[in-house]
Amino acid sequence: MKAIQVHRAGGPEVLELTDLPKPHPGPGQVLVKVEAVGLNFADILYVAGEYLVRTRYPTIPGMEFAGVIEALGEGVEGLHPGQRVAALGGSGAFAEYALVPARSVLPVPAQMSAAEAAAFPVSYFTAYFALATQARARPGEWVLVQAAAGALGTASIQVAKVLGLRVIALASSEEKLALCQGLGAEVALLNTQGDLVDAVKNATEGKGVDILMEVVGGEGFAQSLKMLAYRGRLLVIGSASRQMAQMYPVSLMKGNQSVIGVWLTPFLSDPAEMQAATAFLMPLVASGQIRPVVGQRFKLEEAAEAFRFVLSRKNTGKVILEP
Ligand SMILES: NC(=O)c1ccc[n+]([C@@H]2O[C@H](COP(=O)([O-])OP(=O)(O)OC[C@H]3O[C@@H](n4cnc5c(N)ncnc54)[C@H](OP(=O)(O)O)[C@@H]3O)[C@@H](O)[C@H]2O)c1
Repeated sequence: MKAIQVHRAGGPEVLELTDLPKPHPGPGQVLVKVEAVGLNFADILYVAGEYLVRTRYPTIPGMEFAGVIEALGEGVEGLHPGQRVAALGGSGAFAEYALVPARSVLPVPAQMSAAEAAAFPVSYFTAYFALATQARARPGEWVLVQAAAGALGTASIQVAKVLGLRVIALASSEEKLALCQGLGAEVALLNTQGDLVDAVKNATEGKGVDILMEVVGGEGFAQSLKMLAYRGRLLVIGSASRQMAQMYPVSLMKGNQSVIGVWLTPFLSDPAEMQAATAFLMPLVASGQIRPVVGQRFKLEEAAEAFRFVLSRKNTGKVILEP
């Protein structure tokens, strides 16, 4: 089978198209014929050896995908060959076939395309855990979404709207802002404008935002803290700038504010939290109330080009790789 393999840490240049034997499912595993892979910023960090889990080379990247079940390993029940599924977690999706634990598989509603299904798990589960679980969002609160036209950003706007939040979207081009407004963002601001703190304060009648989804980090982190309302919660979800951020914890005291970490991976092995998230998200998917924004599509062998595309900040929604 075709696969993208990585032998050493690096950027898009280390992604190598290779031919590997088709894997066999072990006990508790499912073999899926991959139809679409969701490209996450985390894949770029994973390949670079900069992710929160250690990368062991050689490796096949790819943590979410959709496809059709080809074969079941020993002991797997409730699934069948030919079934359309999506999967999240681990690695190995940049290939024509991927192995996943049966517990990581989600059924795909009939009206969802493979690309939409591959764009769903990581971004929507993260958006839910960030807003509902970690920030304990309440209807009527303001949330600021950074990189709002991206995969996590577009998912977060949709989940925020369902939770009754008012959304301020930040992105780097007018085209991206228009996409965010189309999804329901009430305020959309270019992240390149100079007076962002003032603009956010003006939009919120001088109060600031109750929740801020921080995914860029670095120098902008201090600015994000200044945008928080009294009892505001800053969610540390990513660091796309790949720079260190500085903060003075004492500054949080005056406004009873919080800085909260959010990482999807530990939630994946917490059955109660996954059940709550699934019960919230799946009916919304089935009813079409939330719908993943599929961005640009690339062939699997163009994975390096897709990485460069995301790194150049051109993407909207989820970039998809197709084997
Ligand atoms: N904690 C978790 O469990 C979790 C889960 C999913 C994603 N994340 C994080 O959320 C962020 C978004 O991930 P995603 O996969 O959905 O990607 P994405 O938002 O589709 O793409 C990345 C976006 O980040 C923005 N960006 C800002 N500074 C950048 C830089 N120096 N280089 C590249 N992009 C930059 C760009 O939007 P603008 O040009 O509009 O600024 C770019 O389009 C990442 O930081 C990722 O690590 C975390």
